[in-house]
Amino acid sequence: MKEKLEQIKAEALRQIEESDALEKLNEVRVNFLGKKGELTAVLKSMKDVAPEERPKVGQLVNETREEIEKVLEESVRRMEKTVRDAKMRREVIDVTLPAKKNNVGHRHPNTIALEEVERIFIGMGYEVVEGPEIEKDYYNFEALNIPADHPAKDEQDTFYIDGDILLRTQTSSTQVHEMEKGRLPIRMIAPGRVFRADEVDATHSPSFHQIEGLVIDKNITFADLKGTLAKFAKELFGEDTRVKFRPHHFPFTEPSAEMDVTCFKCGGKGCRFCKGEGWIEILGCGMVHPHVLEMSGIDPEQYTGFAFGVGLERIALLKYEIDDMRLLYENDIRFLKQF
Ligand code: DAH
Repeated sequence: MKEKLEQIKAEALRQIEESDALEKLNEVRVNFLGKKGELTAVLKSMKDVAPEERPKVGQLVNETREEIEKVLEESVRRMEKTVRDAKMRREVIDVTLPAKKNNVGHRHPNTIALEEVERIFIGMGYEVVEGPEIEKDYYNFEALNIPADHPAKDEQDTFYIDGDILLRTQTSSTQVHEMEKGRLPIRMIAPGRVFRADEVDATHSPSFHQIEGLVIDKNITFADLKGTLAKFAKELFGEDTRVKFRPHHFPFTEPSAEMDVTCFKCGGKGCRFCKGEGWIEILGCGMVHPHVLEMSGIDPEQYTGFAFGVGLERIALLKYEIDDMRLLYENDIRFLKQF
């Protein structure tokens, strides 16, 4: 019996020694120490042993079991450590690796300029509204005092969806939508995209942006227009900026004007930037034509108003000293990042 136990032990230790995985060690445990294992079989065969021998044999079996268990336990611990170490090595983080660059975009100069304009007018109590880019001829032309045969229609040739529906050529169409709502007074700006059948060059694009402004209330005069737009120019281009109004013609305003600002590079003395003029044209404006008010259901005897329209790209180009409008549409991140 003793020999048999020695044999079992030797075989168990040999198998433990040979095990190269935790599953193998577990197999050894089951085979030798389990309910159907070899040692249990020995215990079961105790009935063949003489009664007086039994305690001794029992003790021997227990000792063998304990020895095998001890070695098995140690092997399991060693094996687990090896597995853990390998895992740690596999999952090690090399903190000296350069970090992945997170490439975030950059706000477009148009967006920056628009937010600046919105900030200025919101500060003066204006509301920011938007109108449709696909527009009826009526809103883009007719209701703005530009009937079918008006020469101003030629200057703003556009893309027609059909005879009556077109891509708007000017944000002035939003004036009509606002007036038709029938809520007075009105104090709004309306930024948005406009379209014209223009060839692309350094100063033209078939699609660009404007910001429209409209104020309608009782007793609004040209003095309100001047004060508001002078304030706007100072906020946008600096406190020292002066403004000048030149008479002009727009069908939907009377009187009409174009506003120039003193060149913010030379302060008005004349330089390369302002082409020696000292002044830079920035917007069109005027008192809303009584017939325009009337067509949208506002009584021109009770209400007056002023309007203005400014090119967003023009502001961005001036403010950021960009000399070619096409750069604004290429969306090259190296260009955009500079602003
Ligand atoms: N809509 C005009 C244009 O595209 C700009 C303009 C001029 C708008 C005078 C106005 C205005 O509101 O009063 O050329």
